[in-house]
Amino acid sequence: MSWWWKGAVGAAMATSAENGGSKNFQHVALIIGVTGIVGNSLAEILPLSDTPGGPWKVYGVARRPQPPWNAEHPVEYIQCDVADGKETSAKLSPLTDITHIFWVTWANFPTEAECCKVNGGMLQNVLDAVMPNAPNLSHICLQTGHKHYIGPFEAFGKIKPHETPFVEDEPRLDVINFYYTLEDIAIEACKKKQGLTWSSHRAAVIFGFSPYSKMNLIGSLCVYAAICKHENVPFKFPGTKAAWNCYSVASDADLIAEQQIWSSVDPIGKNEGFNCSNGDLFKWKHVWKILAEQFELEYVEFDENEPYVSLTERMKDKGPVWDEIVKKNNLEATKLEEVATFWFADVIFGFECMLDSMNKSKEHGFLGFRNTKYSLISVIDKMKSHKIVP
Ligand SMILES: NC(=O)c1ccc[n+]([C@@H]2O[C@H](COP(=O)([O-])OP(=O)(O)OC[C@H]3O[C@@H](n4cnc5c(N)ncnc54)[C@H](OP(=O)(O)O)[C@@H]3O)[C@@H](O)[C@H]2O)c1
Repeated sequence: MSWWWKGAVGAAMATSAENGGSKNFQHVALIIGVTGIVGNSLAEILPLSDTPGGPWKVYGVARRPQPPWNAEHPVEYIQCDVADGKETSAKLSPLTDITHIFWVTWANFPTEAECCKVNGGMLQNVLDAVMPNAPNLSHICLQTGHKHYIGPFEAFGKIKPHETPFVEDEPRLDVINFYYTLEDIAIEACKKKQGLTWSSHRAAVIFGFSPYSKMNLIGSLCVYAAICKHENVPFKFPGTKAAWNCYSVASDADLIAEQQIWSSVDPIGKNEGFNCSNGDLFKWKHVWKILAEQFELEYVEFDENEPYVSLTERMKDKGPVWDEIVKKNNLEATKLEEVATFWFADVIFGFECMLDSMNKSKEHGFLGFRNTKYSLISVIDKMKSHKIVP
């Protein structure tokens, strides 16, 4: 846990200690997307005894039944599709004690216009269910990302993105973006309720554990490594030379959860957008070495004479191979398409030099950081210990 935990929010900790870990909750979190890559970290961190603003009671929402790796966390699990207004109202309006909403979910559609409509509708459904019924609701935390600065997937290559390193106070790009829609809805909600605040947390590529995530780069690379090992083929980097060599940044999922909790309890973290990355730089060529070591594979240098083949293309017929790996190693039963999101790796390995600045976050008092190497190893360890990969 980062050191700011102990210093920056001392008052909240004292209150928590006075409660002696009793059920006298100080705050009540509603995590929308509790089984996702950051939702699972929030579910783990919020209930801990020394978490700022605690003791926290935690409700967690997702559509699928609660998986065993999430059920370890003391969270009241609610199965609900927040895209369905009636279901959301029925299941969330009785929760009158909510003080904080953590928005760590999203829906993907072919066009950004649909993304704006559906993601905006999901957030509005939750606010319509919670705001009239939870009088102590005080903060809405939104998770967004670097697409705030480069535009939505459909705009890649068509618009001029902001220059890297990204800084929070640049004007919005002149293009629709569901991240902007979410911020606008939260800002409008805050105008309607006195004392209600918002924050948005703009992540780079996230290093975290969740086999239910729609975009999990490290999870997908673990699966790719396991397949290369099983088939005894070289573990080749499936990206461009530029992506292999350039500086990159990543965001540890626990660090994002910590920044969201910080902004929830510290007045200076409110009504602002913050970048959230680890605070160091890395190159994929170095990460590749660590991945190779962790899966006992030979490290293979990038070969620019070989033609580019996307990871999606390399893995397109590997469903039956994955089934064999699962069976042979007695892993949790998963299908390749559930546990790996190769398309996302192809997006990330097509970029170069997407950096952001953490100055605003630090200047406002959040000093958390991660060593990306250890963040990577910790995700791989979780993938193995939960028997998702061998
Ligand atoms: N992943 C990354 O590397 C990354 C990087 C930068 C920014 N971001 C941004 O971060 C935001 C959150 O994405 P994420 O990657 O953290 O999410 P994620 O890992 O894909 O998790 C999504 C969570 O939401 C739940 N969910 C999805 N649709 C739902 C619905 N209709 N009703 C209730 N629950 C629902 C999912 O469980 P069920 O499917 O069971 O419902 C899951 O728990 C997005 O805006 C994304 O663009 C992500």
